[in-house]
Amino acid sequence: MQPEPQPRPEPQAVLSPLTGAAVFLVLTVEPGGEDTVRALLPDLAGLRRSVGFRAPEGGLTCVTGIGSELWDRLFDGPRPAALHPFREVAGARHLAPATPGDLLLHLRAERMDLCFELAGQLTGRLAGAAAVVDSVQGFKYFDDRDLLGFVDGTENPEGRAAVRAALVGAEDPAFAGASYVIVQKYLHDLDKWNALSVEEQEGAVGRTKLTDIELADEAKPADSHVALTVITGPDGEERKIVRFNMPFGSFGSFGPSGSAGTGGRGGTFGTYFIGYARDPGVTEEMLRNMFVGNPPGTTDRLLDFSTAATGSLFFVPTADFLDSPPLAPGTAEPGTAEPGTAASAASGPSAPGDGSLGIGSLKQTSRTGPRT
Ligand code: HEM
Repeated sequence: MQPEPQPRPEPQAVLSPLTGAAVFLVLTVEPGGEDTVRALLPDLAGLRRSVGFRAPEGGLTCVTGIGSELWDRLFDGPRPAALHPFREVAGARHLAPATPGDLLLHLRAERMDLCFELAGQLTGRLAGAAAVVDSVQGFKYFDDRDLLGFVDGTENPEGRAAVRAALVGAEDPAFAGASYVIVQKYLHDLDKWNALSVEEQEGAVGRTKLTDIELADEAKPADSHVALTVITGPDGEERKIVRFNMPFGSFGSFGPSGSAGTGGRGGTFGTYFIGYARDPGVTEEMLRNMFVGNPPGTTDRLLDFSTAATGSLFFVPTADFLDSPPLAPGTAEPGTAEPGTAASAASGPSAPGDGSLGIGSLKQTSRTGPRT
């Protein structure tokens, strides 16, 4: 009899559509907080369901990302091939800083109350084990515009192209269905931006403002955002990422301040950039183009009005991985393979022998709270 084909590991809700609201939480995990984090992972899906089911039409989703250093503190066994800490990108005039971040929680829904409630439940579970180092509430601004007034997200790949762009495939079979995500909080100097004519703004973005049409090549400045973020691979094919940016802001002088975010009216105005990719190198190449320039010196005109205040990179494991995370480092049973060896990789995800989906190792650590 033919063995039944293994179901494919289920991705997290990476590719769920842009929503009316989002909360972006970046946390660092305290030394000794690893067990609390590991115990939360299998409960994430159930907690999302508990909050989301109270208003199903709100479409609440939660994507969890794990930073490179935390990964090694949490898990034994094979490691995602392209996982590394975010590397700062320093050009002559602009800097994309690398800032601390062990965990990313990307919460999306049509309603802010759903995101807010789930953020409260999750941070409650992590109390004492992790500190929130950045918390941003993003909102939909008219027809998915950023606070610069331009529609943001138009050229995102869709359907199969989105899956190809965002989800790991055969290049790292142990982690197929996972993703990588880079987040950056940008602060805008809106007074400076709004002093430009609409034509100058359109030249900075590379698209028309009202109608959101891409400028013709001959009209598109080399330092426009679109010119610098459209990149191609060695085969000439365009290399894409999937973005779910959201505007955020506050008025007056009581909110968090930032050098470029405080204009004459006072307050903080920004874009939270979030880009998912199957290979973080694609997003990193876009960042080099923007911050160092392509050719070097031809930097992104948007950066004259936008300052990157944060920058972190996370691995987004599959939903199956979160349901059954691998053993903690140093807890492998006698006789089992050491992490990182060929034997451990073979006994892990790529060769499931227990009927599991083969993502992560085969044992559950601890489990508290609602089951998924
Ligand atoms: C201040 C922060 C940013 C703002 C306000 C912004 C805004 C925009 C806007 C308005 C567009 C045109 C419409 C669209 O296709 O979405 C766009 C396109 C794009 N952006 Fe950004 N963006 C920001 C940062 C970034 C960063 C950091 C990256 C990558 C590292 C990036 C990658 C892209 C890509 C790939 C496109 C599509 C280009 C194309 O295929 O035409 N953006 N962005």
